[in-house]
Amino acid sequence: MSKARAYTNIALIKYWGKRDVAEMLPYNSSLSLTLDQFYTETSVDFVDQKEDQFFFGSEAQPVSPKVKRVLDRVRSLSGRDQAAVVKTVNHVPTSAGLASSASAFAALAVAASAAADLQLSQRELSILARHGSGSASRSIFGGFVVWHAGVDDQSSFAEPITETVDFPIAVLAILVDQGRKKVLSGAGMQASVETSPFFSAWAQTAEQAIPKMEKAIANQDIAEIGALAETNAMQMHATTLSADPPFTYFAPETLKIWEIVREIRTKGLNCYLTLDAGPNPKLICQLQDIETITNYLQNRIPDLTYTLCRPGSGAQLVAK
Ligand code: DP6
Repeated sequence: MSKARAYTNIALIKYWGKRDVAEMLPYNSSLSLTLDQFYTETSVDFVDQKEDQFFFGSEAQPVSPKVKRVLDRVRSLSGRDQAAVVKTVNHVPTSAGLASSASAFAALAVAASAAADLQLSQRELSILARHGSGSASRSIFGGFVVWHAGVDDQSSFAEPITETVDFPIAVLAILVDQGRKKVLSGAGMQASVETSPFFSAWAQTAEQAIPKMEKAIANQDIAEIGALAETNAMQMHATTLSADPPFTYFAPETLKIWEIVREIRTKGLNCYLTLDAGPNPKLICQLQDIETITNYLQNRIPDLTYTLCRPGSGAQLVAK
């Protein structure tokens, strides 16, 4: 039995759209910060039984096609034909509403490959995790990470920009809504690819934003990192508003928070908003401003739930 832990990541330049769905190749490169909150622990055991089994906490669930794809790859790489028993636990504060496929598939890739005695490099693990979920390719690494779009299976992998982040960047995750009906990220991005007339401009602009973000990270410029991230997030969301039929991940509260964030900036604080395929925004700020920012938000919208995140580490084996 091998057990691994992986943390979620927040994309500062988003992955949104698959050029090749079967091979999980994205249209554009993406760039993220791995967080120190919200992790998944997954154990894998290869045993002599007929079918793969999957447990989420103590509950048996059907083995999803994505999980199967990762397990099948591990079997083909290792020459094993045994079935796998996968047990996974999400360590996401129940209030955070931030369950993540990134941490789940990064943990699965690390645990399954170790259970099969594969000695994969970090790059190979990133490729393996990508086959479960695109954003998981980045959670193999800590700190700031870039996922190169690549042109084929072997050239589409993530690698760290800097695993140790020694400047005071902080991410404030805000819970606005847990219960909304969701357009899952895979379906949402596919709708944008197929029906948004702005999609090609999105992919091109996101690719061009990567070197700009790398420069801002090298300069430890939190304002520039946040500004680039907010612009990129809104460009991604423009491909959902311009899809046919149109859809959005913004909830009324999300827009309200964005408005307040822009107001906070007029007070001279660095505070920027990013949003994934759900209504819960993440704010990119300076650690020393967190109290002022939460007080400001609290006064305007009481009873929001906040989780303060800092840069986190890459996926690790916790038991062999
Ligand atoms: C908006 O990685 O969840 O969070 O590859 O279909 O599993 P699949 O999608 P997923 O999409 C993440 C989309 C995003 C942006 C990002 O994390 O880059």
